[in-house]
Amino acid sequence: MSEATARRIEPQPAALRAPELTVVIPTLNERENVAPLLERLDLALAGTRWEVIFVDDDSTDGTPDLVRAIGRTDPRVRCLHRIGRRGLSTACIEGVLASASPFVAVMDADLQHDEALLPGMLNTLRHEPCDIVVGSRYVDGGGIGDWDKTRAGMSGLATRLSRLICKTEIADPMSGFFMLRRDVFESTVRDLSGQGFKILLDLLASLPAPPRLKELPYQFRARRYGESKLDTMVAWEFGMLLADKLVGHIVPVRFALFALIGVIGVAVDLVVLWAALAAGAGFVAAQAVATVVAMTSNFFLNNVFTYRDQRLTGWRLWRGLFSFYVICSLGAVANVGFAAFVFGGDAHWLGGLAGIPWLASLAGVVVGSVWNYAVSSVFTWKRK
Ligand code: GDD
Ligand code: MN
Repeated sequence: MSEATARRIEPQPAALRAPELTVVIPTLNERENVAPLLERLDLALAGTRWEVIFVDDDSTDGTPDLVRAIGRTDPRVRCLHRIGRRGLSTACIEGVLASASPFVAVMDADLQHDEALLPGMLNTLRHEPCDIVVGSRYVDGGGIGDWDKTRAGMSGLATRLSRLICKTEIADPMSGFFMLRRDVFESTVRDLSGQGFKILLDLLASLPAPPRLKELPYQFRARRYGESKLDTMVAWEFGMLLADKLVGHIVPVRFALFALIGVIGVAVDLVVLWAALAAGAGFVAAQAVATVVAMTSNFFLNNVFTYRDQRLTGWRLWRGLFSFYVICSLGAVANVGFAAFVFGGDAHWLGGLAGIPWLASLAGVVVGSVWNYAVSSVFTWKRK
């Protein structure tokens, strides 16, 4: 950049009005909530320099168009429109990264979080030795509103499970409503798992040192417009986040799941083989049937569990199954080939370990599994 240009973009008086607080709001089909939410923010944050970034994952109800329309007359309102992407956590992360203000809040669009808490959160961060302020349903004065027993029980269970990975004492680690200093976020953004719904939990599990944390009570309100996106997928992602934080530094969670399903596949293979033999089939026929059944069940189990977030449906399901057969067959060849190599005399580097059948066989299984995993992740469950 030439010196002349550099001088021209020196801070303008307007820059002194740059926001102090960015509110990041993930949205997926929340059109009817946008205007009421902005009205409430405007009231709650009167006297504060604030802006809001809606991070929208290509809602089909016109949410991003509405946000941009408002943004044309109100520069405090922006839309980060993501196409071909999904995920509450990554939406929040990218929203924070797209802002520059020293304080950032994350809040749902559906009016369930109490915006009246925002000024108190901001003041706490400004004036107290505090890194993160959390809007909490589980401290005195807070509450979960009209949740039924099942949802309350699920939330309670998830809260207890989250203690496994959370290094900080906190009553409501599942809260999706919090504010923090930008430098705190930046210190850990590269370690975030980004998996699923629980961005606060992800942060708390990833921070290098336990943060100074304060919880402010609020009443979780009922949703008025639109519907909740909570489904089995969210539960699955929560499990993946826990597993990733627990063992992800040792082995990728997906591979661990894939390997576990592989073990189940061996059991399926043996049961079918036994049944076919008992039914009078010859060994080769029985083994062939057992192998196909095991490959098929492995494919469907992986499709539902390991790759739930990329689950194949419709004609892609059958194409995926076919590619999985081909890949696993090649995996079997690799398995036998490597086992034979380890078993045979050629592997001098193995010293006394060569020639031990079970060890050679295990080595073959490992090579075959890694092949199956690596290749199927690219060809069978490739991202759309
Ligand atoms: N961009 C984007 N992408 N936004 C999403 C996605 C997504 O894949 N999924 C959900 N959202 C948005 C919704 O539009 C809403 O604004 C917000 O994220 C929360 O989604 P809800 O479907 O309303 O979730 P909830 O009410 O069941 O749970 C929320 O509140 C809990 C209590 O604070 C979440 O914030 C939970 O994380 C939180 O524990
Ligand atoms: Mn909600």
